[in-house]
Amino acid sequence: MILKLFLFVILFSQLFCLFTGDGTFYNATGGGTCSFDESNANPLLVAALNQPDWDGSNNCGRCAKIWGPYPDNPSYKNPVTVQIVDKCPECLSGDLDLSEDAFAMLAPMGDGRIDISWEYVDCDVSGLPGFQIHTKNGSNEWWVAFQVRDSRIGINMISVKSNGVWYDLSRTDYNYFIKSFSSGVGTQFVVRVEGINNEKFDYTINSYIANYTFQTSYQFDASSASINSILFGMALLFFFLFF
Ligand SMILES: *[C@@H]1O[C@H](CO)[C@@H](O)[C@H](O)[C@H]1NC(C)=O
Ligand SMILES: *[C@@H]1O[C@H](CO)[C@@H](O)[C@H](O)[C@H]1NC(C)=O
Ligand SMILES: *[C@@H]1O[C@H](CO)[C@@H](O)[C@H](O)[C@H]1NC(C)=O
Repeated sequence: MILKLFLFVILFSQLFCLFTGDGTFYNATGGGTCSFDESNANPLLVAALNQPDWDGSNNCGRCAKIWGPYPDNPSYKNPVTVQIVDKCPECLSGDLDLSEDAFAMLAPMGDGRIDISWEYVDCDVSGLPGFQIHTKNGSNEWWVAFQVRDSRIGINMISVKSNGVWYDLSRTDYNYFIKSFSSGVGTQFVVRVEGINNEKFDYTINSYIANYTFQTSYQFDASSASINSILFGMALLFFFLFF
C-alpha cells in the first residue's frame, strides 16, 4: 500500500510537473524583480518564486495553481492561481512567497508557513485584447529593452529584425530582453516574441519609445492538458488493476 502510494505520488508529480514546498507570505505590491508595474488588484494574487527555481527570470509572468494544506476545510480547500512577479532569494526549491491575499485563501494567516503543492498553468487572459510588449524606462534605439506582459504562457525569447538581420536579445535577471545597437535599431523594425511553446509572433514598431506599452492583438495558444490527462488516467487504471 505504501509502495503504491509512493509510486503514485512520483507518477503524479512527473506527469503534472508538480512542485512541493513551503508557502509563506509577504507584503506584495505586484512589482518586484520581474519589473512589472505595481498593481491595485483586489485581491492581489501574486507570488515570489524561490531562487533555485528562478531560472534567470524565465518564469516571470507565468501563473501557478497552488493547493494548500486544508483540502477538507470549506474556507481553504480551493486552489488559488497566482502570477509570478518577484524573486524570493531566501526561499528553497519548491517554495513560493505569496501575497497576503493569496495566502489567506489557502490557510489562516496565523499559520505563517504552510505545505503547498503547485504547478504552472496558463494565465487567464480572457477579456484581454492580447499580450503587451513593454519597453523599459531609460531604454532607446541604441539600447533596446523589452518585456512581455499579460501573456498566457511563459516567454522563450524576444528577437529584433534590424536592417534585414535577426538579433536575439539577452534575457536579464530583471525580466527584460536587452541588446545594444551601435548605430541604432532603426526607425521601423520588427520585434518577434516566442512563447515557451515555440509559437512566434511578429510585431512591427514604427518608432522606439521608452517606458511605453505596445498593445498587441495576439495571444499564445492555450496549452493542451489533454495528453497529460490521458496519461494520468491510464496510469490510474494501471495501478488499480495491477497493485
Ligand atoms: C505594505 O507596503 C505598503 C507600501 O507598499 C505599506 O504602505 C504598508 O504599510 C505595508 N504593510 C505592512 C503590513 O507592512
Ligand atoms: C526613467 O528614465 C529617465 C530618463 O532616462 C530617468 O531620468 C529617470 O530617473 C528614470 N526613472 C526611473 C524610476 O528609473
Ligand atoms: C512609465 O509610464 C507610466 C505611465 O504610462 C508612468 O505611470 C510611470 O511613472 C512611468 N515610469 C517611469 C519610470 O518613468
